[in-house]
Amino acid sequence: MAILKIQHSLCILLVFLIQFSSLQLPSHGYTVPDNYFINCGSDSTISENGKNYVRESILKTSFGSSNTERSESQVPSPLYQTARIFRSESSYEFSIDTNGTYLVRLHFFAFSSPSNLSSARFNVSVPGFWLLQNSDVRNYTNNNSALVKEFYMQISPPSFRITFRPLPSSFAFVNAIELFILPLHLISNIVSRFTYSANIGSLNSYSGLYSRVLETKHRLNVGGQRVNDSLLRNWNPDDSYISNKENAKNRSPYPGQILYRVDDDHDGPNANKFTAPSDVYGTAREINNSSASARNITWALPVDNNTDHLLRLHFCDYWNPQSGLTYFDLSIYDTHVMSVNDYNDTDVSKELPAPYYYDFVVRSDSSGFMKVSIEPDASASIPNAFLNGLEIMKVIETSSSVPLDLGSGSSHNSLPVVLGSVVGGLVLVFVVVILGFLWRFKMRKEKPVENSDWLPIPITAGGSSHSRLTDGTSHGSPLPNINLGLKIPLIDLQLATKNFHASQLIGKGGFGNVYKGILRNGMIVAVKRSQPGSGQGLPEFQTEIMVLSKIRHRHLVSLIGYCDERFEMILVYEYMEKGTLRDHLYNTKLPSLPWKQRLEICIGAARGLHYLHKGAAGGIIHRDVKSTNILLDENLVAKVADFGLSRSGPLDTQSYVSTGVKGTFGYLDPEYFRSQQLTEKSDVYSFGVVLLEVLCARAVIDPSLPRDQINLAEWGMLCKNKEILQEIIDPSIKDQIDQNSLRKFSDTVEKCLQEDGSDRPSMGDVLWDLEYALQLQRGANAIQREPYEDSSSSVSASLQLPNVRRLPSLSTLSEADDSIVMGDESDSAVDSVFSQLKIDDAR
Ligand SMILES: *[C@@H]1O[C@H](CO)[C@@H](O)[C@H](O)[C@H]1NC(C)=O
Ligand SMILES: *[C@@H]1O[C@H](CO)[C@@H](O)[C@H](O)[C@H]1NC(C)=O
Ligand SMILES: *[C@@H]1O[C@H](CO)[C@@H](O)[C@H](O)[C@H]1NC(C)=O
Ligand SMILES: *[C@@H]1O[C@H](CO)[C@@H](O)[C@H](O)[C@H]1NC(C)=O
Ligand SMILES: *[C@@H]1O[C@H](CO)[C@@H](O)[C@H](O)[C@H]1NC(C)=O
Ligand SMILES: *[C@@H]1O[C@H](CO)[C@@H](O)[C@H](O)[C@H]1NC(C)=O
Ligand SMILES: *[C@@H]1O[C@H](CO)[C@@H](O)[C@H](O)[C@H]1NC(C)=O
Ligand SMILES: *[C@@H]1O[C@H](CO)[C@@H](O)[C@H](O)[C@H]1NC(C)=O
Ligand SMILES: *[C@@H]1O[C@H](CO)[C@@H](O)[C@H](O)[C@H]1NC(C)=O
Ligand SMILES: *[C@@H]1O[C@H](CO)[C@@H](O)[C@H](O)[C@H]1NC(C)=O
Ligand SMILES: *[C@@H]1O[C@H](CO)[C@@H](O)[C@H](O)[C@H]1NC(C)=O
Repeated sequence: MAILKIQHSLCILLVFLIQFSSLQLPSHGYTVPDNYFINCGSDSTISENGKNYVRESILKTSFGSSNTERSESQVPSPLYQTARIFRSESSYEFSIDTNGTYLVRLHFFAFSSPSNLSSARFNVSVPGFWLLQNSDVRNYTNNNSALVKEFYMQISPPSFRITFRPLPSSFAFVNAIELFILPLHLISNIVSRFTYSANIGSLNSYSGLYSRVLETKHRLNVGGQRVNDSLLRNWNPDDSYISNKENAKNRSPYPGQILYRVDDDHDGPNANKFTAPSDVYGTAREINNSSASARNITWALPVDNNTDHLLRLHFCDYWNPQSGLTYFDLSIYDTHVMSVNDYNDTDVSKELPAPYYYDFVVRSDSSGFMKVSIEPDASASIPNAFLNGLEIMKVIETSSSVPLDLGSGSSHNSLPVVLGSVVGGLVLVFVVVILGFLWRFKMRKEKPVENSDWLPIPITAGGSSHSRLTDGTSHGSPLPNINLGLKIPLIDLQLATKNFHASQLIGKGGFGNVYKGILRNGMIVAVKRSQPGSGQGLPEFQTEIMVLSKIRHRHLVSLIGYCDERFEMILVYEYMEKGTLRDHLYNTKLPSLPWKQRLEICIGAARGLHYLHKGAAGGIIHRDVKSTNILLDENLVAKVADFGLSRSGPLDTQSYVSTGVKGTFGYLDPEYFRSQQLTEKSDVYSFGVVLLEVLCARAVIDPSLPRDQINLAEWGMLCKNKEILQEIIDPSIKDQIDQNSLRKFSDTVEKCLQEDGSDRPSMGDVLWDLEYALQLQRGANAIQREPYEDSSSSVSASLQLPNVRRLPSLSTLSEADDSIVMGDESDSAVDSVFSQLKIDDAR
């Protein structure tokens, strides 16, 4: 750190010295400073235009997901051999130590490459301004030519950022960047504004170019060749912009030296050598006097409609013997602006050939063109009209839609954010606890929109992303290097869900909406889309991708992919035809599930959780086990879903990092709530609540009931102790339940709901107990000769009830992908205290 800082200071000092030597002297001593000429995406330095373009690493960069590409074929300049590709928002930070007008030049050349650069779509911004919006470089680069965007802007110390922002499902790229300070007085803050209406024009003062950005649209060497100047600016021929060519002819170039002002730190109209090179002032177009009728020359240049532009016109009479012999009229949009008269303009040098220029801010009309005309004044001694150079720069206004750049000076900016989220989190916990008693919570498929009471009504209005107790942790970091192979373009998801059409909506919650969709390959998926732009839930989003991309299990819902383009946080899962477990338990029109089916669902969920805790991926604590997070496929196979809150980390009994309690009220482990010490036994507790819910088919929190019955876990345990559990069982299954099966099941629930985590069984034990309860039920059913639909086991097998508790059942063995460890894990519960390592912090 210290070394880096010293290096940084040395760099600043060096830059300062360089700039001091070039800029603090009178500006006619100005030479283009060496900073910054960047050869993006390359490790090598390239000499071009008399400058060394160096690698990006001299800048402070904050790249999201990015890579570099190299052209295999011929490119017009070595600068365009490589490109930096940005797949998420990324920026370059330039260290700045002098106030002034800077030139920023961005080079884009879409060489053919795997990414197909010509399909890139992106915005580029600097603080307060969009430089490029939705730029479509294809239009410029399909002709083996580069797109060079050039801007003038005021920049002040200490640093300056250029940010590339890919549009959804696209990417950004850049081949080279130039940024350097311009000589003083190249641009004035105050110029003339020309306004016109009904062919009546007027000139007023326009103040404020320094608080805007100028983008070069045209820079023409009128009557001359293409040249470049000491500021590495290109001047192009004007031929293609003259609308009445027959009226114009070229004045032969001036062979001698143009007489620039010596004291060049002076605002116009006298030009200095940086205003425009002598190649520009030394050539001109004038009236072709042999054509009698048409008397004016008109240039029409494509510009943006109804936008302010800075129009700069360059004049230099290098052929008349003295000034004042030729003067002429200047018009913009056929409206007279002024008489160009080098004699009567006291500011213009009378010593010829004197170069001078006029600036006007003009609002373009809606023709798509800026029209400029010159016409001889018949009263002049030598009637003629001429023009030497023309520049049009678009005036870019500051835009509030540019996202604030929190990156620079982050320590100052991030503090209120952190404070805000901590305070917000505390308030939220409070609100959620209070309102938790009031909320009703159920998810319905097919008709989710009418089903407004699914929403925990007042809570989501508070801005919470989840119906969970939440702590104050807040994370805005870009996605870490998660499995990019799972990334799905937004456009595909829009197609899959009919652009998130209401008809596709299958669920709704504080996090956003869930849609049913059909991917291009025909796969039916569930698309969970976070509220766009809410910025809520990013850590949960990241965690879910990281956890789910690592694990596959028959009883864990599969992540098909995700989309993180810009403001979107979308997760795509396998579609679970039959919805949530809760959908089938209460507040539902769906048929009641038989007890055996319920047991099988519980066993499936237990298997999923057991795999999370002990399986190949290992050590993952779900933290939000509840009946709405257990989904059912078309065969009613249970899968555990929603891993947004899950935590994983190495076994570490030494460090209990407590970042706050998360989970859902009613399922939350009281021990975890008290101690903030997270173990897998918290999942066991929550699962115990789910088991009760399955048995009783009622909400875990039901405020409409008498006080002692509101909380299902408490009420259930009370009934169990009084041995009146029978009375609160779902009436629709009461008659099916075998008493032995019920006893086994309720014993399991009781163990799960133990106050002390160490007294609770492991998920492996729970799984065993549930299997056993199922066997008991099957045995009873078989004896009653009930019809048998289950294909995975036979009557004879299930009748051989395992007396030894550890004997695997048939259906356990049939789980090929289950990596259940058959050891006795409950005794090693001491080891299974997990430190609450945040996944993002582990990086
Ligand atoms: C600009 O001029 C320099 C010489 O002054 C030349 O080396 C360079 O190639 C020119 N650049 C362009 C883009 O024409
Ligand atoms: C740069 O200019 C701004 C405003 O014009 C001024 O507040 C600031 O002090 C200047 N900084 C330096 C280093 O000159
Ligand atoms: C590159 O992208 C453009 C525009 O999206 C498309 O027209 C073109 O076919 C693509 N080329 C290749 C080789 O994929
Ligand atoms: C690119 O060209 C197409 C077709 O000429 C046009 O519709 C589109 O507006 C152009 N895009 C830009 C950014 O100029
Ligand atoms: C490339 O651009 C030049 C000049 O703009 C034009 O004359 C030429 O036809 C273009 N070529 C292609 C293949 O578009
Ligand atoms: C790009 O600019 C447009 C226009 O302001 C804006 O709507 C869009 O959100 C921007 N996109 C990105 C990725 O910055
Ligand atoms: C000047 O006008 C004559 C007659 O109309 C025409 O022949 C000639 O080409 C014009 N000169 C130029 C440079 O256009
Ligand atoms: C055209 O040239 C003639 C002389 O050759 C001159 O008398 C006349 O004023 C010129 N007209 C213009 C418009 O320059
Ligand atoms: C200068 O302007 C005055 C009016 O302000 C005018 O009378 C005079 O003729 C002009 N002189 C020249 C050379 O244009
Ligand atoms: C320039 O001449 C054209 C005719 O060639 C005419 O229509 C137009 O109004 C003239 N423009 C000005 C500014 O006089
Ligand atoms: C300007 O408006 C005209 C129609 O009035 C339209 O044809 C043209 O495409 C527009 N130009 C731009 C750059 O939007």
